[in-house]
Amino acid sequence: MKESNIIAQGIKYIGADDTDLDLFEGQYIVPEGITYNSYFIDDEKIAVLDTIDQRRTEEWLANLENELGGRTPDYLIVHHMEPDHAANICLLMEKYPTLIAVCSQKAVALMQRFFETDFTSRIKVVKEGETLSLGTHTLQFFMTPMIHWPEVMMSYEQSEKILFSADAFGKFGAYSKTADGSKGIGSMWGDKVEWACEARRYYFNIVGKYGAMVQNALKKLSNLDIQYICPLHGPILHDDLPYFLNLYNTWSSYKPENNGIFIAYSSLHGNTEKAALLLADIIREQAPELKVSVSDLRHDDMAEAIEDAFRYDRLVVAAPTYDGGLMPVMNDFIHHLAIKAYQNRTVAIIENGSWAPMAGKKMHEAFEAMKGIKIIEPMVTIESTLKAKTIEDLKTLAKELI
Ligand code: FEO
Repeated sequence: MKESNIIAQGIKYIGADDTDLDLFEGQYIVPEGITYNSYFIDDEKIAVLDTIDQRRTEEWLANLENELGGRTPDYLIVHHMEPDHAANICLLMEKYPTLIAVCSQKAVALMQRFFETDFTSRIKVVKEGETLSLGTHTLQFFMTPMIHWPEVMMSYEQSEKILFSADAFGKFGAYSKTADGSKGIGSMWGDKVEWACEARRYYFNIVGKYGAMVQNALKKLSNLDIQYICPLHGPILHDDLPYFLNLYNTWSSYKPENNGIFIAYSSLHGNTEKAALLLADIIREQAPELKVSVSDLRHDDMAEAIEDAFRYDRLVVAAPTYDGGLMPVMNDFIHHLAIKAYQNRTVAIIENGSWAPMAGKKMHEAFEAMKGIKIIEPMVTIESTLKAKTIEDLKTLAKELI
C-alpha cells in the first residue's frame, strides 16, 4: 500500500490486493485484479474486521502485525464466512489464544464445517442490534442474511459512522497496478466516475439473486448516519454516498438503470450475427440518442453480458437452433439470467433455423417463466440466411423496440 491506510480515527485498512488471480470464485475474470479487504480498529480493545483469502495471507499478516506492534488483538469480527474472507480465521485464532471471534449464530455452524479445530468456547455470538464497545469505538451489528451467504452480518461503527458492509458495495479491481502495469483502481477511496462499471458486474453476478435481501438491508440501515462504507472488496466509499446508495437501491429493486437496448447474440455460421448487427444499425440510425450495446456471447465475458442485460430496460436475444434446441452459449446466458432473478424488462427474440427452427420456442419458454417480462411478438425467424423479408421483419422489430 503506497497511500496512507488510515480511514478514520483509529481505523485502518489492512487488506491486500490480488492482481494475478485467474478467475474470482472460479468463474469471473478480474482483469483489474481484486482486493480482499480487512480492517483494524485500534482502541482499548483491538478488533480485526475479517481475515482475507489464503492467496495473500502473508501480506495481510504483515499488515496486521505492523499495526499491532507486538500487542495482541482482542476481537476478530467475522462478517462473512466465504473463504475469500474467512480463510485465515483458524490461523488467527491459533496464533492468538485469547482472541474472541464475534459472529452471527449461523456463522458458528459454518466455522465448524470449514475448520477442524473447535474454538466454539472462544466465539461470541451477536444478535440484531447488539453492540460491542471497544473503548471510544462501538460496533453495532445488523444481520443481513443472503448478502450473499446466510450468515452474513454488517457492523456500524458509531463514533466514526462507518458501515462495514460485507460483500455489499463490493467491486472488482485492485488498488495497485496489474502485472502488466496498465490497470488498477489506484486508490483505496471510491470515485463515482469509475466505480459503477465493475461494481455493477460484481453486484449482478454475485449478489444479484438476492435483491429482496439487499432491499431489506437498505431499509434497515436507512436510519443510520453513514459517512463511510467499507466493503470486503474494492474501494472505501465516503464522498457522494447518496450516489452509491441510490445505485444499490436501483439494482436491488430490479429496475433498469438506463434506457437502452442490449442485443446479445450467438451465431454458428455468421447469419444470426448479421441479423443482430443489422438490427443494431437500424436502431442507431432511427434513434441515435438511444444507447445500444451489443455482445457476441461466443467471445465476450458472460458476466459483463449479464451486467448489461440488467442495466438496460430492453433486451434482444438472437440465436440459432442447435441439436433440436438452442445454441448452448445462449442457453447458458438465459440460464444465468434466470438464476439471477432477471425480471421487469422487455425482451425481443430472433431465431435462426434451417430445417426445423426451435431456438425461438426455447427462448420464449425461458423468458415466459421469468417475472414481469414483456415479450415482443412476433419473434423474428431467419431461415438460414438474411433475405428481403427478414430485413423487413428486423425493421419492424426495431420500430417496436424504439
Ligand atoms: Fe467476497 Fe461472498 O465473498
